[in-house]
Amino acid sequence: MTIAVTGATGQLGRLVVDKLKRKVALEEIVALARDPAKAADLGVAVRVADYARPETLDAALAGVDVLLLISSSEIGQRVPQHLNVIEAAKRAGVKRIAYTSLLRADTSPLGLGEEHRRTEEALRASGIPCTVLRNGWYTENYTGSIPAALAAGAVIGAAGEGRIASATREDYADAAVAVLTDEGHAGHVYELAGDEAWTLADLAAEVSRQAGRDIPYRNMTEAEYAAALEAAGMPAAFAKLLADSDRGASEGGLFDDGRQLSALIGRPTTPLRDSVRAALAG
Ligand SMILES: NC(=O)c1ccc[n+]([C@@H]2O[C@H](COP(=O)([O-])OP(=O)(O)OC[C@H]3O[C@@H](n4cnc5c(N)ncnc54)[C@H](OP(=O)(O)O)[C@@H]3O)[C@@H](O)[C@H]2O)c1
Repeated sequence: MTIAVTGATGQLGRLVVDKLKRKVALEEIVALARDPAKAADLGVAVRVADYARPETLDAALAGVDVLLLISSSEIGQRVPQHLNVIEAAKRAGVKRIAYTSLLRADTSPLGLGEEHRRTEEALRASGIPCTVLRNGWYTENYTGSIPAALAAGAVIGAAGEGRIASATREDYADAAVAVLTDEGHAGHVYELAGDEAWTLADLAAEVSRQAGRDIPYRNMTEAEYAAALEAAGMPAAFAKLLADSDRGASEGGLFDDGRQLSALIGRPTTPLRDSVRAALAG
């Protein structure tokens, strides 16, 4: 059995490879990376696989039984890139694909949903048995900006009262490994989200409690939030995307209470307070 992981140099991919190493023989794992030098420390076989260069993908997927396709970080390019991988997987005779999609990608109000919907359609059309891991938001998306919130004296966002059932990359990586190492998940679509849901005001309250000073939540319109992110140095397109995602969150797009993630990983998801503690210690 050969299990290959794309995006193995990324934050999620690294966790998946590390966790796979504890569960299956090293010879069964292949890390796929567009820049193999970046994957040299992973301690498993590395093959070149660039989503945008189909000529790399046939050799990358030769002999692979199970493939984890981690969605590309190149937003706007993802559909053709993912199609390249799916077509190559078909040619290579890959027996099962797991794909990291977005929470309720089929109905999500987030603009990000479109590329995931189209990728899921292509997976279904490929005829390859697949497992869709519809990942909700990473808690790290928010804890990463705690230092900025402390410096500015406020958590900012545009998610209003929207409740966000986030989980850590570690939680989602455990789910991916559970799916990759057990044949029983073919044909399943999992809505993966944290056990606990919170608003950005709840996040601000938790940061305030742990930091020992008042850091309120300041809600903005989508346009104001995008402008604030851009003023802080974020590229305009990415700022727009994050503001759109907050708008989607305000409409309930990042809320879920199905607890499929904790069921899949056999433990509760990481509580927000633990992630805030880690970020403050960080
Ligand atoms: N659920 C969420 O909250 C959330 C948040 C952010 C992103 N995401 C999605 O989840 C994915 C994994 O998250 P992450 O935190 O691991 O992201 P990440 O750290 O940015 O990793 C992205 C990975 O994709 C690889 N990649 C990008 N373009 C590629 C290409 N053309 N060919 C091959 N590999 C390519 C990157 O390779 P390099 O190392 O060479 O750059 C990297 O390994 C992201 O790519 C994105 O689609 C989800």
